[in-house]
Amino acid sequence: QQAKPKGPFVPKFEDYQKVYDAVAKRLADEDDYDDGSYGPVLVRLAWHASGTYDALTGTGGSNGATMRFAPEGDHGANAGLKAARDFLEPVKEQFPWITYSDLWILSGVCAIQEMQGPKIPYRPGRTDRDVSFCTPDGRLPDASKDRSHIRAIFGRMGFDDREMVALSGAHALGRCHTDRSGYDGPWTFSPTTLTNDYFKLLLEEKWQWKKWNGPKQYEDVKTKSLMMLPTDMEIIKDKTFRKHAERYAKDNEVFFREFSDAVAKLFELGVPFQTEEKWTFKSSFD
Ligand code: HEM
Repeated sequence: QQAKPKGPFVPKFEDYQKVYDAVAKRLADEDDYDDGSYGPVLVRLAWHASGTYDALTGTGGSNGATMRFAPEGDHGANAGLKAARDFLEPVKEQFPWITYSDLWILSGVCAIQEMQGPKIPYRPGRTDRDVSFCTPDGRLPDASKDRSHIRAIFGRMGFDDREMVALSGAHALGRCHTDRSGYDGPWTFSPTTLTNDYFKLLLEEKWQWKKWNGPKQYEDVKTKSLMMLPTDMEIIKDKTFRKHAERYAKDNEVFFREFSDAVAKLFELGVPFQTEEKWTFKSSFD
């Protein structure tokens, strides 16, 4: 009897869950990096892939993975993200059927969940595009700027004030690197666990300008080991932003719910999906 001709491989939820599991395993294994995890830099990769979206022209966003190419990969805002892209290369080799664009976003979802954050609904459907789809420099936020810049950048993507504050809570994770952005240090004492600590610390600690030769940033008066960017401080200086920061500082569940919604929206900007159905991946500790 003759074997049936094989049709094209159509990956299903179980196949994407296998990719999730492979990223989660690598996150656990490769713990000799920064504060012990590639998680934060994976979240930043997914955000910078998505945050180039321009609602007016429909350009940018996570569809395309154009950060693989110069000039986009060399934009100042993307400094250091090669570490995240290289980290994912063995996973791409193991699952060659997944596009880089779907892999980067799936990895952002995985990193958030593995760092004990909320579940982020996911669906595939992104295709990789060539260098001609690279976005112009300047679409990602500049940390030295004020609230009008934050509103201009995130407004261009289609976010409102509440969503801007929710998304900022990602700075509970990771740190600034002098050889990447020029800034230095982490925002919280647990940079590899997602909590509402970013909002608590912003509101409860005293902050002062750090005295150094680097770009203008804040340090906490008490320990001088934490930092805030000028744009972070706008979150409590602006009355409307602050209202949301206070809600999130008070209730981690509210933060998780609104963060999950805003991140899921961010990760889907500009992607022409074929399917409505969204999946929730099982975390390694479920
Ligand atoms: C790191 C700026 C919004 C997630 C950073 C760094 C800067 C920055 C300067 C340090 C990069 C380095 O030196 O390695 C900003 C500004 C924002 C913004 C100005 C908006 C006004 C966001 C959003 C997310 C995010 C919306 C995700 C939803 C992260 C993460 C890191 C980071 C996880 C840590 C990366 C690491 O540890 O390697 N951000 N960011 N940021 N950002 Fe943001």
